[in-house]
Amino acid sequence: MARERAVYRCQACGLAAPKPGTCPDCARAGSYVQLVEERATPARSGMRVVTPAGGSRPQPLAAIDSDGGERIATGIGELDRVLGGGLVRDSLVLIGGDPGIGKSTLLLQASRALAERAGPVLYVSGEESAGQVKLRAERLGIAPAGLYFVAENDLDIVLGHVRALRPRILVVDSIQAVYLPGLESAPGSVGQVRECGARLMLLAKGEGIATFLVGHVTKEGALAGPRVLEHLVDTVLYFEGERHHAYRVLRAVKNRFGSTNELGVFEMAERGLAEVANPSGFFLSERPVGAAGSVIVSSLEGTRPLLLEVQALVTPASFGTPRRTALGADYNRVCLLLAVLEKRVGFPLQSQDAFVNVAGGGRVSEPAADLGLALAVASSYLDRPLRGDVVVMGEVGLTGEVRAVTALDARLKEAGALGFTSAVVPQNNLRGRTGLPIEAHGVGSVDEAVKVLLGP
Ligand code: TYD
Ligand code: MG
Repeated sequence: MARERAVYRCQACGLAAPKPGTCPDCARAGSYVQLVEERATPARSGMRVVTPAGGSRPQPLAAIDSDGGERIATGIGELDRVLGGGLVRDSLVLIGGDPGIGKSTLLLQASRALAERAGPVLYVSGEESAGQVKLRAERLGIAPAGLYFVAENDLDIVLGHVRALRPRILVVDSIQAVYLPGLESAPGSVGQVRECGARLMLLAKGEGIATFLVGHVTKEGALAGPRVLEHLVDTVLYFEGERHHAYRVLRAVKNRFGSTNELGVFEMAERGLAEVANPSGFFLSERPVGAAGSVIVSSLEGTRPLLLEVQALVTPASFGTPRRTALGADYNRVCLLLAVLEKRVGFPLQSQDAFVNVAGGGRVSEPAADLGLALAVASSYLDRPLRGDVVVMGEVGLTGEVRAVTALDARLKEAGALGFTSAVVPQNNLRGRTGLPIEAHGVGSVDEAVKVLLGP
């Protein structure tokens, strides 16, 4: 007979070890995390209840009906797109994000249309009382008949409610706040999060209930994170944004039912989250036209080209090592571009502090924004503004060459739709091209782009 043996589990990454101590995996990454004792799960018999009767049966692939997934629209266009065209019937969706970013608000708003179209919806909150949620729902004007609410932390009781109410959609807010009393570890610990997630997965698949899980993540991943759930669920969405900016971005990082890298943009307003139908316009709304150091770049987010304003401020360094700051852009990328400007264009940036920022709390993650970042720095250094009606795109290499970007047409079309009349693009993108949506000027190097846009 197998001896019951304690397992020691890392609270950050979920690693299991037979002995107490610190997690060797996390130690290699530079953080020392205590392994916490976790007793073996008392038999998984409780989980059998929700498995489909009769078990599984192998079938020839040709004989299987394809499951395009019956989809339910959430009534929030941006959320539907990120999900891949609506919520799939028995899918498990994890929505992660920093506390206070608006996850509960988003799901409450989505619950409205879901309850109206496909109810009943059961919203389980382990964090807020019924009164608190009601107050928010009133503020958002949400009161559909098919929306049920329960404030509960004990997952066994929740599963009981699910069996009684038979909802088609279940929201668990949050996975860190619910627990299984049969496990010894504390609510929110890796063991609890994993086991609760597994139970809910079996429930979703077994009973055909679309389930949303809310998970808080901290930047350091210090909290026993929902990262251990990422393998388990069908879809992982991250809700991101700067706390002090109104805009929020919903990103799919994993999706078994649609494209990843899709992006939905929202604005946190007085009455909840509002969809931003024209995100480029939103990011460019306060653009100072004709100011040195401001450049409009095109950044492809999923299939969607976004126009963002990149700003740079270059000032003489007062002493010692010059300062470099990058907000909304990769720090190392910015340093690389400063070095390219120094060596290939001849700007003495070693004696200058350089600050780079993406306006409105936006973020550029694509190499296609390189040329725009470099030109913003050059424009600020020379104190000469670019023309206001030009968009810049291109990847910059270490020899100062400008490399081709993907999806040129989509980017130019978006720029044209927002009133831009010309673009500076990589020369290589223009070979043999005619009939572009707006006028495009091809450049082969950063040096050339600086001369074209800022003068000799
Ligand atoms: P919440 O959905 O509770 O965040 P999470 O569940 O991710 O922790 O959102 C909380 C923030 O949203 C809070 O700081 C207030 C703000 N908010 C608004 O600005 N307008 C609104 O209509 C609502 C409901 C919230
Ligand atoms: Mg919440």
